[in-house]
Amino acid sequence: GRVAVLLGGTSSEREVSLDSGRNVLEALQARGVDAFAIDGIPALARALVAGEVDRVFNILHGHNGGGEDGIVQGLMEAFGVPYTGSNVLGSALSMDKIRTKQVWLSLGLPTPQYRKVTAGDVHANAAEIGLPVVVKPANEGSSVGISRVFDDSGLDDAVALATRYDGQLLMEQMVVGDELTVGILGDVALPSIRIVPKGQWYDYDAKYIADDTQYLCPGLDGADEDEIRRIALAAFHAAGCRGWGRVDVMRDRESGRFFLLEVNTAPGMTSHSLVPKAAGQAGIGFEELVWRVLEQTLE
Ligand code: DAL
Ligand code: MG
Repeated sequence: GRVAVLLGGTSSEREVSLDSGRNVLEALQARGVDAFAIDGIPALARALVAGEVDRVFNILHGHNGGGEDGIVQGLMEAFGVPYTGSNVLGSALSMDKIRTKQVWLSLGLPTPQYRKVTAGDVHANAAEIGLPVVVKPANEGSSVGISRVFDDSGLDDAVALATRYDGQLLMEQMVVGDELTVGILGDVALPSIRIVPKGQWYDYDAKYIADDTQYLCPGLDGADEDEIRRIALAAFHAAGCRGWGRVDVMRDRESGRFFLLEVNTAPGMTSHSLVPKAAGQAGIGFEELVWRVLEQTLE
């Protein structure tokens, strides 16, 4: 059947998705799949009405016209067209960092202490949590709108920036230590990756532009590696996710403890992205990775 690669859209991660999507499309075509690209949800809706789509590879990142927040999943469900990745619930929940944390905490899964904040209460909340903190839009991706704040004087700017992207804001205690991520493929956690950015942290530039970000895979050894994969998979399932994704994790330098940050339900597939690196370490090349994600829609 015909496979639509859903890419682009109108989210702040549009450019990333175009890049991811081109790679996915090429890989599917190289496998002999009758695949074509569709840019954004309205174009997909028209193609669904016209009966032109048999299944969808969703590589549309983000929300606000992205494909990671459950909206397009509902559309595809309504048409009975199989699609890659998480369903409505897993997508919608994972896009909302605050509610994801509430679910994890209720299950005893570790995540940094946090507060939902507004411009009016950000200073009081920072005093309670203790600096440094990270201020984030509750619904975003690729570190867009995120600030690390070390000093009370930086809080107002951090809130102003995050507010440009989302009405709901979250302040988290900053975990000082290693940034790690665990790709999930089917029901298996791939080897973790430890990210060593050249600058202060793994921001948008370090993610997609810089060529000096270092990636260590597997990111940990022995029992630590087993443990991070175990909690990442548990976190993925707790959020109701399926198919594939990526769970971002911090590890506190002093205590060695892990703290879950978020789940990405349509993770990047650019040449800089993490799931392809982890799959490669597990002996799964890019084309094979793309095939295995699609294959799950055939079941
Ligand atoms: N949000 C980007 C695409 C990622 O998680 O890879
Ligand atoms: Mg993300």
